[in-house]
Amino acid sequence: MAGGQGQGHPSRRMFLRAGLSTGTAIIGAGGAWAAGDPANQPPNVPDWSRYLGDGVAVRAYGKPSKHEAHVVRRDVEWLTASRESSVSFTPLHELDGIITPNGLCFERHHAGIAEIDPADYRLILHGLVDKPLIFTLDDLKRFPRVNRAYFCECAANSGMEWRGAQLNGCQYTHGMVHCVMYTGVPLKLLLQEAGLKANAKWLLLEGADAAAMTRSLPLQKALDDALVAYRMNGEMLRPENGYPARIVLPGWEANMWVKWLRRIEVGDEPWHHREETSKYTDLLANGKARRFTFVMDAKSVITSPSPQAPLNHKKGFTVLSGLAWSGRGKIQRVDVSLDGGRNWRTARLDGPVWDKALTRFYYEFDWDGRELLLQSRAMDETGYVQPTKAELRKVRGVNSIYHNNGIQTWHVKANGEVENVEVA
Ligand code: MTE
Ligand code: CO
Repeated sequence: MAGGQGQGHPSRRMFLRAGLSTGTAIIGAGGAWAAGDPANQPPNVPDWSRYLGDGVAVRAYGKPSKHEAHVVRRDVEWLTASRESSVSFTPLHELDGIITPNGLCFERHHAGIAEIDPADYRLILHGLVDKPLIFTLDDLKRFPRVNRAYFCECAANSGMEWRGAQLNGCQYTHGMVHCVMYTGVPLKLLLQEAGLKANAKWLLLEGADAAAMTRSLPLQKALDDALVAYRMNGEMLRPENGYPARIVLPGWEANMWVKWLRRIEVGDEPWHHREETSKYTDLLANGKARRFTFVMDAKSVITSPSPQAPLNHKKGFTVLSGLAWSGRGKIQRVDVSLDGGRNWRTARLDGPVWDKALTRFYYEFDWDGRELLLQSRAMDETGYVQPTKAELRKVRGVNSIYHNNGIQTWHVKANGEVENVEVA
């Protein structure tokens, strides 16, 4: 009965309120009373249990709770030359498990989002083929399809950290990665349909955006595990991720995952376009640029605690959580250090450990309340071990931007705040 807590009888709810004001109510975790409205806390009947809620279909397309409004993609102002050629980052510190919700997948565009009417969508396949073809979206949907979850990481992820710790939050240092379940046609089937000429060796992938982004792809990868995907996490691709179709190249740098895919040309050598000559190359210490670094090496990051996800308790049982991935296969093991890499303990992998997908790890420990230097180190099934930043710089110098998979360090202070640092 809604009016049960009558004025004549000081209710339990009022008693607790009084207790709170004199500072004597000590229930549960410290500070729990400070947030929200104490009248809605146990053992009271909260407001939301007293009234009917929204009916069905009021929210025709579901959205997160209004209390989660801070969980959004964010950009970095000084990295944003223009809205159309920019990047927004996945809020990794707010997520768990291994699948990235569609609306939170980082986006990277060179000329804004192409708005394509699926009825007008066409994919042209030509060049060194027996039979040039044009596919409609419906045509693509009539090929046998597969479902695969893969991570997609921009080669520039962590690129701003090459010369030292810079951005304060794993959303910014590592948030150019997402992992969704794609539905699509194996590219091999489309190539078989057209028939490859004997001298076919490379493909050109071209996007339908104003940048007409183009990359050369070795035929071997196309025949191996490349997909022309049209769905992510069950629903059609989001416009920002290439609606209605994009290339998925498991384990390879995301720049090659051409969105709004409109043209595939089969040739016998690479095209040496802008994105594989001027950009997406790694300038080494000797002045030479390394080219065609397709595979994303094993990498990991602790997502919580992290600068945007500080510790709110002063000591005691603490859950450390993070992500690991490798372009060469499955993650085999993740080690965690609490002291800047002196001692390592093996983390617990939880959830599916899939080939070339994000893998979730946890490490639970009893925090003594002292400062920590948190690190994680991924190992993949080929035996490759994620290097330290110093090891990377020794081989690659300091001129690089792309392919930074060095070990990240978070400094947890005694008050629970976390900062991006480097240890020597
Ligand atoms: N494809 C087209 N057509 N245009 C682009 O600007 N950007 C590339 C790649 N494919 C791009 C593109 C880059 S650099 C990255 S990192 C990924 O798309 C980003 O994919 P996402 O926006 O789905 O995260
Ligand atoms: Co990119």
